[in-house]
Amino acid sequence: MTATVLLVGGTGRTGLRTLRQLLERGVEVRAIVRTVSKLPPELAASPRLTAIEASLLSLPDEELQRHLRGCDAVISCLGHVLSLRGIFGPPRDLVTRATVRLCRGIEALRPAAPVRLILMSSVSVHRPGAADARRGALERALLGVLRALVPPARDNQRAADFLAEGIGSGNAFVEWAVVRPDTLLEGEVSSYALHQGLVNGIFSPGSTRMANVAHLLCELATDRAAWAAWKGKLPVITDQGDPAREAPSRSAA
Ligand SMILES: NC(=O)c1ccc[n+]([C@@H]2O[C@H](COP(=O)([O-])OP(=O)(O)OC[C@H]3O[C@@H](n4cnc5c(N)ncnc54)[C@H](OP(=O)(O)O)[C@@H]3O)[C@@H](O)[C@H]2O)c1
Repeated sequence: MTATVLLVGGTGRTGLRTLRQLLERGVEVRAIVRTVSKLPPELAASPRLTAIEASLLSLPDEELQRHLRGCDAVISCLGHVLSLRGIFGPPRDLVTRATVRLCRGIEALRPAAPVRLILMSSVSVHRPGAADARRGALERALLGVLRALVPPARDNQRAADFLAEGIGSGNAFVEWAVVRPDTLLEGEVSSYALHQGLVNGIFSPGSTRMANVAHLLCELATDRAAWAAWKGKLPVITDQGDPAREAPSRSAA
């Protein structure tokens, strides 16, 4: 059966790669974007793409639910635009508000099978309950300052906390995974490794190709085994060859 995926943030750097890979896999994609003309013509012309030009945060509930109805998965590649206004201006809680809206919209539809909510996040986000290997005192202090002063860092953590604690593991309608890439790089899909917890410190960052993040997001949305392995978790994704302290648990073909 063809999968149907709702994509938000699809005009971004990773979002566009995700959109392209989803369409190449034959997935039916609904993309809510602020500006349809940002989509490359060859993607916009795909018969499998429904592009919806709208502001995700102000879309009426009923309209959002209409776009969510019948979706097997929702992928969010939303991120704050890297400008002074994008980082410090409203909406400071873009990712959290969007994540909550999408989850509440799915719950309101009461789907027969749980819908997968897959959130692109960052290695600056930690797992709740101090489940990640402890960072050094200096790193913890620096991240605390970052979250206090830089809205996107706080926003990404709150969105992940909402999924881990607000949705949790027993929700009948929503299942979730939070993907945590390290420093984002250009490049084609290559081998990558997935880790349960953090493998690089902020003073010795690793790297993750955006194409590899897109590949993982697509796998999680469409592959039963990948979803069984990572639902309810916050996988860290690093390019293969990156100095990792944990054994890789999944590689791209
Ligand atoms: N940069 C890094 O090295 C890095 C590393 C790890 C993780 N991350 C995280 O990865 C995520 C995605 O990163 P990226 O670089 O691929 O993102 P990006 O290129 O900046 O794209 C951001 C997307 O979010 C949309 N967006 C921004 N503000 C919005 C708003 N107010 N309403 C609706 N949509 C909005 C943008 O739409 P428009 O096209 O309309 O602006 C775009 O589609 C971010 O959460 C980031 O924190 C980044």
